[in-house]
Amino acid sequence: MKFSKLLAGLGLMATAANAIDVQIDDEQSRKEAAGTVAYGLLGFYYGNNTGDVPGNLPSPYYWWLCGAMMGTLIDYWHFTGDDSYNDLVKQAMIHQAGVDQDFLPANQTRAMGNDDQGFWAMTGMLAAEYKFPDPPEDGPQWLSIVQAVFNEFASRWDEEHCGGGLRWQVFDFNVGWNYKNSVSNGCFFNIASRLARYTGNDSYADWAETVWEWENEVGLMTDKYELKDGVTIRDGQDCREDMDPTQWSYNSGVWLHGAAIMSNYTDDAKWKTRVEGILNYGLDLFTKDGIIFEQQCETWNTCDDDQRSFKGYYMRWLAAVAQLIPELADKIVPLLKNTAVIAAGACSGSPTGPIAGYPPFKGHPGTACGFTWLNGSTFDNKFGVPESMNALAALLSTFEADPPVSADTGGTSKGNPGAGGSDEEKVRVFQPITTGDRAGAGILTTIIICGVIGGSAFLII
Ligand SMILES: *[C@@H]1O[C@H](CO)[C@@H](O)[C@H](O)[C@H]1NC(C)=O
Ligand SMILES: *[C@@H]1O[C@H](CO)[C@@H](O)[C@H](O)[C@H]1NC(C)=O
Ligand SMILES: *[C@@H]1O[C@H](CO)[C@@H](O)[C@H](O)[C@H]1NC(C)=O
Ligand SMILES: *[C@@H]1O[C@H](CO)[C@@H](O)[C@H](O)[C@H]1NC(C)=O
Ligand SMILES: *[C@@H]1O[C@H](CO)[C@@H](O)[C@H](O)[C@H]1NC(C)=O
Repeated sequence: MKFSKLLAGLGLMATAANAIDVQIDDEQSRKEAAGTVAYGLLGFYYGNNTGDVPGNLPSPYYWWLCGAMMGTLIDYWHFTGDDSYNDLVKQAMIHQAGVDQDFLPANQTRAMGNDDQGFWAMTGMLAAEYKFPDPPEDGPQWLSIVQAVFNEFASRWDEEHCGGGLRWQVFDFNVGWNYKNSVSNGCFFNIASRLARYTGNDSYADWAETVWEWENEVGLMTDKYELKDGVTIRDGQDCREDMDPTQWSYNSGVWLHGAAIMSNYTDDAKWKTRVEGILNYGLDLFTKDGIIFEQQCETWNTCDDDQRSFKGYYMRWLAAVAQLIPELADKIVPLLKNTAVIAAGACSGSPTGPIAGYPPFKGHPGTACGFTWLNGSTFDNKFGVPESMNALAALLSTFEADPPVSADTGGTSKGNPGAGGSDEEKVRVFQPITTGDRAGAGILTTIIICGVIGGSAFLII
């Protein structure tokens, strides 16, 4: 091995030196740590460069992940007060709202899952709830965009198969059209409950009830509060017979958070029972030795680029639940703090070059974040958007700040209950495919589906 290569190899593996050593009970220390991790995260984002597309991440990261990243950055601003990235976030959200102002830009129709649109919508909801600076009056308004997504979800509700539910995909030519999954329906449930709380309009709460009931009836949510991945529609067969039982932390989180919102909105004990049920089950399944982890794939090192990001959302939702239902904080907060210390410590990499096929790390040397936190604060040499986003989420989940507002408690975002576009009209648009456009938040437990049809979907168009 040549000397230079040896050095590069060592660099790639380097740990220690500048690792982020956060004093968890010192707010200033947490802010500095979060700032360092956020800076590293933004190094992967080129969407604000001249000529680049705001709201897109470089390959291999998908469109939905950028929506999730913008939500994490709204949290970053809300919890730390640092508004350095607000303009960039606003630019990305306005751009990706698209011509119909519904987070379903024509460029993305080729691979648009309800979960992809849903993740952007949850970011839009967060903007309204945290009073993120409103767009100019002639631009799309946060609340209105979320209402548009809600209306489109409601219009896609499919009673013909499985007794209801949203399909994974929006368009019938996309892989996964015959799959109904917990994350797509979880996004619907989550924004319906939050729209109810924000606007006080019970039509949204009624939908939240409907989606919840369906999830239970079809068996994707069990009596134990397991949340299984999805069911496949097959002619002449009960949907329950072809179920993917994989459990992901973000499914637990998206339903948990929506239920906590319903508990807060209705003050009905039934919702509190449900919150406690999902919480207790999830905390048991998704923690190991007091640390949050992705039980399905983390210990085997098999999480893909989407799956590696799930535990970050889970932590953000857990923190939000602790705030909405303070009596549950004792169960949640120590776990989040414990995980945050380890996660920050694992931001100790100094990669000297990119992992093949991924964008390079451009943050401060010695602060690249690794993926697993199960080996303590060691950098496992996996770095990128999910890893940085997770570490940032872990740190942010330890802050306290104002709770989400509603229209009655200071919210300023303007709504339009009739917003939304037509799915059909977007199908006509055809652009050459790029890697960044493909696939989505829906996960690859559906390998069978992908294996069969993967790629050929584009020929059908
Ligand atoms: C894009 O945002 C980053 C992070 O705030 C900033 O450092 C960079 O200068 C911005 N790029 C442009 C072209 O404005
Ligand atoms: C759609 O793609 C075109 C060409 O790459 C780009 O100029 C435009 O900004 C994209 N629009 C959105 C909403 O991403
Ligand atoms: C309440 O929400 C429903 C469902 O979107 C909508 O049809 C209705 O117009 C809304 N009512 C008000 C007063 O905004
Ligand atoms: C709902 O949440 C807000 C903000 O945390 C809190 O002030 C309020 O007491 C909660 N209401 C109920 C019924 O839980
Ligand atoms: C923890 O470290 C051990 C020994 O280096 C390794 O075999 C294992 O895969 C690591 N665990 C994870 C989850 O990466």
